[in-house]
Amino acid sequence: MTIYLNGEYMPIAQAKVSVLDRGFIFGDGVYEVIPVYSHQAFRLEAHLLRLQHSLDSIQLLNPHRISEWTSIVNELIRRNIIEDQYIYLHITRGVAPRDFPFPDVPPTVFAMSNPLSAPAQALISHGVSAITAEDNRWLRCDIKAISLLPNILLRQMAVQAGCAETVMLRPATANEPAFLTEGSASNIFVVKNGTLLTPPKDHLMLPGVTYDVILEIAAANDIPYEVRKVSKAEVFAADELLLTSSTREVQAITCLDDNPIGNGIPGPAFRKIYLLYQEFKREVMRAK
Ligand code: PDD
Repeated sequence: MTIYLNGEYMPIAQAKVSVLDRGFIFGDGVYEVIPVYSHQAFRLEAHLLRLQHSLDSIQLLNPHRISEWTSIVNELIRRNIIEDQYIYLHITRGVAPRDFPFPDVPPTVFAMSNPLSAPAQALISHGVSAITAEDNRWLRCDIKAISLLPNILLRQMAVQAGCAETVMLRPATANEPAFLTEGSASNIFVVKNGTLLTPPKDHLMLPGVTYDVILEIAAANDIPYEVRKVSKAEVFAADELLLTSSTREVQAITCLDDNPIGNGIPGPAFRKIYLLYQEFKREVMRAK
């Protein structure tokens, strides 16, 4: 596998980063995951805009212009041959003696490609199980930070329960009841009486590119949707529950905390959106 590191392409085995890299020491950096279908990066600009937002949020100067990122991404796609891939971009605040204040050093820029496979058919036919957990992360979940310890711990709870995802809920306060944020590595949609409900993009969730695609598909196909705060009670009373991400596409959550969602099988809204998503993949994402 060929990767990109600080201006050079090289086999992954040759890529070396200092132990003093602030990514290693502090988790001080941001990343992106960009799906590639038929050798074409999907919505590269949207991903690069989200990367810019992450970089601005941590006061790290973007090391590349959009045109330079585009060349790096396309070169990795070209060198890695596989038809469907995902490109991982990773920028840290660079190598410096361990000290909290920002150092005046160049950032570390790393990029790689990995194979991207569509979710297994069994996941589509039967759906997946999930657990809920309190969203105990910080208040800047809109930053795609490499420091993913909270997400990893939350996901591991699902793994240990034999589940595919953790649906996160912010606890109730004096002013409002508990509400849905997102999955440990996905966005979440509730379906109630044929309407899709999903939380608004704010500081409590990652603004998913797949989330945008699902809302566009809904708008274009007269599927009613509401972007608004979704309460914990609405999550548990859902007719259907969906998760979305660039690597997992759209999947039905059919079991939540050991209780079936709806009839415990992927429902009509999921089936419709799944088919529309596959059509979108064929006609738009793979289009030359
Ligand atoms: N994660 N929310 C979180 C916390 C995520 O980590 C992700 C994606 C999403 C969905 O975003 P998108 O639709 O743009 O992929 C939502 C990626 C896939 C990852 O970290 O590997």
